[in-house]
Amino acid sequence: MSERTETTARDRLIFALDVPGHAEAVAWMDRLGDSVSFYKIGLELLSGGEYFEVLDELARRGKKIFADLKFHDVPATVAGAVRGLAQSPITFATIHCDSRAMLEAAAAAKGSLQLLAVTVLTSNDANDLAALGIAGEPADVVIQRARLAQAAGIDGVVCSGDDLPRLRDALGRDLLAVCPGIRPAGASGDDQKRTVDVPTAFAQGADYIVVGRPIRNATDPRAAADDIVRQITQAIG
Ligand code: C5P
Repeated sequence: MSERTETTARDRLIFALDVPGHAEAVAWMDRLGDSVSFYKIGLELLSGGEYFEVLDELARRGKKIFADLKFHDVPATVAGAVRGLAQSPITFATIHCDSRAMLEAAAAAKGSLQLLAVTVLTSNDANDLAALGIAGEPADVVIQRARLAQAAGIDGVVCSGDDLPRLRDALGRDLLAVCPGIRPAGASGDDQKRTVDVPTAFAQGADYIVVGRPIRNATDPRAAADDIVRQITQAIG
């Protein structure tokens, strides 16, 4: 059975644990209990200084871990950083989609870690790309970068649900697609610009979604997580 069919609906929801420290992180783990099985830990926890304590606590509780540190540097430095992360019980880690040399160096160092290449941030739209001198729609840039990542041996991409129909048409289903920028239809996107709702993300070919504020800011976060899992179950049949 492929990883795709084995993965449960609950494991396809990745909760963004965007908090500054260990105490807040543990409070969220207690609050969410078994409604969330997969946690993303990123830059806010890293700069707060308690990143690896939180990682150890998640592992102790049997949670899956996504280390979202978005590495971006010269190939040797990125390879060293990936090699270090691969010593921890991490399922996914991120790197920016840069040169083929950087992506290949990261892929060679990843061990059993699965690497995801960040294509175009979901907080960026065509105007943001144009301001950087990058022509085209975000989906065009996503496809170009995803193709580069795939050729370099990277396992998947982080992209918007909006990009998925064209990405799947161009590259098929072999690359994992992990989608942040998930918002209920009609809800505020916060700082996100390219958002889709849960059913749309999976109908368009997402393997996993990342959800932070819609759960953290909910009146009942546990019920919000359970509701998202229910929507995933319906969407993937
Ligand atoms: O709170 P919200 O649901 O918008 O959180 C989305 C999470 O996904 C954040 O932790 C953000 O860093 C992350 N992310 C993103 N866009 C990307 C890659 C990661 O929003 N392209």
